[in-house]
Amino acid sequence: MSVTVRVPAKVNVQLAVGGARPDGFHDLANVFLAVGLYDEVTVSPADALRVTCEGPDASQVPLDRTNLAARAAEKLAARVGRAADVHIHIAKDIPVAGGMAGGSADGAGALLACDALWGTGAARSELLDICAELGSDVPFSLVGGAALGTGRGEKLRVLDVGGAFHWVFAVADGGLSTPAVYGEFDRLNEGVDVPEPVASRVLLDALAKGDSVALAAALSNDLQAAALSLRPSLSDVLAAGRSAGALAGLVSGSGPTTAFLTRDAESAAKVADALGSGTCRTARVAVGPVAGATVV
Ligand code: C5P
Repeated sequence: MSVTVRVPAKVNVQLAVGGARPDGFHDLANVFLAVGLYDEVTVSPADALRVTCEGPDASQVPLDRTNLAARAAEKLAARVGRAADVHIHIAKDIPVAGGMAGGSADGAGALLACDALWGTGAARSELLDICAELGSDVPFSLVGGAALGTGRGEKLRVLDVGGAFHWVFAVADGGLSTPAVYGEFDRLNEGVDVPEPVASRVLLDALAKGDSVALAAALSNDLQAAALSLRPSLSDVLAAGRSAGALAGLVSGSGPTTAFLTRDAESAAKVADALGSGTCRTARVAVGPVAGATVV
């Protein structure tokens, strides 16, 4: 017997970042959109907890207890008082590059899969609490669609979306550490009174209307300057995507993946072609919003 969960990647269409909190985290207004690039997480009974992974980037995925999927299984097992005796297999199609929540997706996927395999009967709110313990982006991977994340990004309000948005993701070589990018944000803002992060009304309206042109004009990421400071070559990727016809481009989350919003599927294919031929490791096309973690 096994259970498979399909779980999507995300892009942050707005990432407003406040000053550093006493706990080291930052308050956010984080507008997430789930996009149709998926990992599939399969769990089956085993003698002991074990993680395996397949896919083009599989060699970059940790298979030990630092993998969020393993930690999700352990947390749920502890909560219901049983052993985390499962084999977790991850079929990875979300690029391993940072900024698309691939690790968070696997955490949410493994949690939902173990919950179904073990028949724990845990309430949705309990699963969301475990997700929040695993990481700031993990609750959104469970929920999907579009949502505004506040607090450190884990408190979610579901958002209305009036249409499909066509994206291209330029996957960079090598990663960027999320704590390092937040650290650079703090360094760049030293002595500055960083305002409270708030979601943009104009951006939420553009999402609700399904208006790509308006959304493109409103995209913003307060971590972008920090990511570009640590990885200046990302500005060339942003320029290349725009000159290939994207409506707008931005660093996705803490990067180094960059995301480009395009007018339609045809334009997305053109931008992906242009970016894939040299500027980045690979370019992927995806449409959002899509559903969150789902048992298949
Ligand atoms: O929650 P998560 O494990 O994804 O966070 C990784 C790191 O990113 C944190 O240790 C922190 O340095 C930074 N972070 C932050 N503020 C947030 C989310 C993450 O400073 N709201």
